[in-house]
Amino acid sequence: MSGASQPAAKKRVRVLCVAGARPNFMKIAPLLREFNSRDTFESFLVHTGQHYDARMSENFFRDLGIPAPDINLGVGSGTHAEQTAHVLMKLEAVLLSERPDLVLVVGDVNSTLAATIAAVKLDIPVAHVEAGLRSGDRTMPEELNRLMTDVVASWLFTTEADGEANLLREGIDPARIHFVGNVMIDTLLANLERAKKLDTLERLGLTEGKFCLLTLHRPSNVDDPARLAELFGALEEIHDRVPIVFPVHPRTATNISEALGGRDLKFQIIEPQDYLDFLRLMADAKIVLTDSGGVQEETTALGTPCFTLRDSTERPITVTHGTNTMVGADREVILREVMATLDGKPKAGNVPDLWDGKASERIANVLERDLGAGS
Ligand code: UD1
Repeated sequence: MSGASQPAAKKRVRVLCVAGARPNFMKIAPLLREFNSRDTFESFLVHTGQHYDARMSENFFRDLGIPAPDINLGVGSGTHAEQTAHVLMKLEAVLLSERPDLVLVVGDVNSTLAATIAAVKLDIPVAHVEAGLRSGDRTMPEELNRLMTDVVASWLFTTEADGEANLLREGIDPARIHFVGNVMIDTLLANLERAKKLDTLERLGLTEGKFCLLTLHRPSNVDDPARLAELFGALEEIHDRVPIVFPVHPRTATNISEALGGRDLKFQIIEPQDYLDFLRLMADAKIVLTDSGGVQEETTALGTPCFTLRDSTERPITVTHGTNTMVGADREVILREVMATLDGKPKAGNVPDLWDGKASERIANVLERDLGAGS
């Protein structure tokens, strides 16, 4: 599609990309790079401001080479309704002045849903990247965001076969579904070598393959002090075998002291890590313990054993094909499963289909074709 002989006639697709919270940034980075490398697209980036601490936002833009947002809506924290409503109102004004050909959203955070509603109400089509994932648990805010976004988005880009099966079961027209792979793995593969050159382990006093990496931030785990205390009990026993390092999300930080009744945790608490440092930690940990969605996928791509401290996953391929094991929040189950791995053989996994670093390219190809870009 070089089109060099007809310079005047080329149609550029105006794509407005939305990102708001930490897990969005590694997904939007390769997409923007792909759009900006083609003369068939013109991109515009909106940061909703859902995450605003440098360690949750700005550092990711810097490390992943994401262009500065064209606009930051600065919505900040709040209740679900407040956060969603602020994005809706502020983004509507941007959409009315920019009039993009489409709005592209990623993942399942409140900003994803809010941007989708703002766009479709103005008759601007939406592309949802990472569509179709379902945990089956409607008490998770992300599950509601995923369900509502997928009902109205025009392009549903899926990361795994289960995504397509879920969408078809919900009555979605197959023509809207495109299995393209995983943009977050595009970013992981593009940055792994850089991460391996960092002094992350030395800085934190860790030895390759001899530490456990922990993340915890789901409301269901950290907003209930009793559940959090039970989790910490199991985790401290694991720490006695293999030391745990725990980068703490701001949501969790505020709840830790209540759950522990004032005593200190046995293991090392550190600040939220920048993307490359965290990638290094995931790659070199003996095991990862997490309740994150994205970390389940990243550990599968890296081949690091992962234990998910939740009762359900929206990413079942990480369990059936990858290195992930679901252990919930029950102390005995966690200890049984984790100790068995520390004593014996880790779960071997395969990297899922199309998690090959080319998902963004496939997405741009579909949009280019469907919107007649360059013609
Ligand atoms: C959000 C997403 C979740 C995602 C997570 C990753 C929703 C519903 N949830 O959850 O899916 O896995 O991001 O981080 O969108 N805070 C700060 N600084 C920040 C951001 C937040 O201090 O930069 C604190 C605030 O006290 C805030 C709390 O963290 O109230 C929670 O932030 P919020 O964006 O509401 O949800 P997350 O728990 O981060």
